[in-house]
Amino acid sequence: MRPLTRRQALVLGAAGVGSVVVGGIGAAQTPLPWSAAPPDAHGPGGRAGGGVTPGADGATLTEPVVLASESGVLEVELEMAEREVRLGDVTARLLTYNGTVPGPTLLLRPGDTLRVHLVNRLDDVTNLHVHGLHVSPEGNGDNPFLAIEPGESFDYEIALPDDHPTGTFWYHPHHHGMVADQMFAGLYGAIVVEDDLPAGRVLVVSDVSLTADGAVRQVSMPERMMGREGETVLVNGQVRPRITAAPGERQRWRVVNACTSRHLRLELEGQEVTVLGVDLGRQAEPPSLGDLLLAPGNRADLLVTAAEGTATLRALPHDRGGMMGMMGGATTSSEPVTLATLEVAGPAAEPPAELPPAGDVRDLRDVEPAARRTLTFTMGMGRGRGPGGMTFGFDGRGFDAERTDQEVAAGAVEEWVIDNPTPMDHPFHLHVWPMQVVEAAGTAVAAPTWRDVVTVPAGSRVVVRVPFEDLTGRTVYHCHILDHEDAGMMGVVDVRA
Ligand code: C2O
Ligand code: CU
Ligand code: CU
Repeated sequence: MRPLTRRQALVLGAAGVGSVVVGGIGAAQTPLPWSAAPPDAHGPGGRAGGGVTPGADGATLTEPVVLASESGVLEVELEMAEREVRLGDVTARLLTYNGTVPGPTLLLRPGDTLRVHLVNRLDDVTNLHVHGLHVSPEGNGDNPFLAIEPGESFDYEIALPDDHPTGTFWYHPHHHGMVADQMFAGLYGAIVVEDDLPAGRVLVVSDVSLTADGAVRQVSMPERMMGREGETVLVNGQVRPRITAAPGERQRWRVVNACTSRHLRLELEGQEVTVLGVDLGRQAEPPSLGDLLLAPGNRADLLVTAAEGTATLRALPHDRGGMMGMMGGATTSSEPVTLATLEVAGPAAEPPAELPPAGDVRDLRDVEPAARRTLTFTMGMGRGRGPGGMTFGFDGRGFDAERTDQEVAAGAVEEWVIDNPTPMDHPFHLHVWPMQVVEAAGTAVAAPTWRDVVTVPAGSRVVVRVPFEDLTGRTVYHCHILDHEDAGMMGVVDVRA
């Protein structure tokens, strides 16, 4: 039934061995015979991925170690500690999960239970968040209110419902006030909830700024106000790695935007790229790559059909607003950033199989919402606790873990208007319950579009519908520019039966 472990299958799936059979539970599934890919993924037992690879320019892309569930359970230890990590041609001191940047990829299926023994060997308090998973926020689940002190450890148990959406998710620390600094320093990893297609590979994009001696640079107060953008952009902890492919070959790339504030508008010129989905599942009418803006926290599930030649995967500049001249600042890099190169050469691959249709995507546009509420991003001057004395918050209030801002009746479909009268874009993120975007930039969204992070551009609003189903508990929503979240742009939602 399972001739290969799923760990092998993932690696081979990336390496495209046509005849890999991924065993389903009780029923074998035959993945599409997507074709041969580069032998550049490290096999099982190979080197840990990401930052440990000596990264002179020209190194091939490596992938984080994959830890896959067996018989419905994945039990892992994640040790958080500062380590020396090779980044490009420097040795950096970063914060790591199990010694690597990114941390290991967790490979799960709907219905699985994830047990994480989190060990905090940092100098600061931390915790664990499984971004995008539709799982309980209570107790030792995906609980953002927990505080794991230095030297302590904690056992998380995270149960995915049987009908959990497939897709690319990720994990990172979430202790309020520490999130941006800890993530910026290297603490992130991917989570894949498998579907029936070959799992493909993850490309975790992050950014960091280093001091001359390889420490993570402390960021300035204006950088915190704008949301820091790191000077070095990494893919799986590497600097501009090479990806290779045969002409005609199809590769699935799961891109995670693990940057603290940087938005990614991806470009891969001369190559055929299909967007399968964003954040969770397949999308009925996905945007083209050129129309896709990945806010911090978003993920893109891409299918690349390689065409002969060399292409550059770039992040194009994106203006996310500024502080109207105050504190000197525009937010954004004005130059495109090269993330990786794709080199397509050699004998042509077999033509790839046709892609199975996305299937039905749930649509809440005809549902009468049980409640409507408006949440407004606010940035106020003076007397605040945030950088520069500013108050970052919602509805004029900064985050207070003791206060409940939104009480929701379990089971309700609610409509939330996310209003952004500020001069900067803010990516809105809600834990646990995915959101269907129904209106953006004043325009109704045509196809059912599910996200767990949705950017609300400066001076505009986005309307989402949220089915607060299956689960109850208290959790958070926030700006995923994590400097803003740490400064208070976060609120508490309590979903109660
Ligand atoms: Cu990825 Cu509450 O965040
Ligand atoms: Cu999250
Ligand atoms: Cu923000």
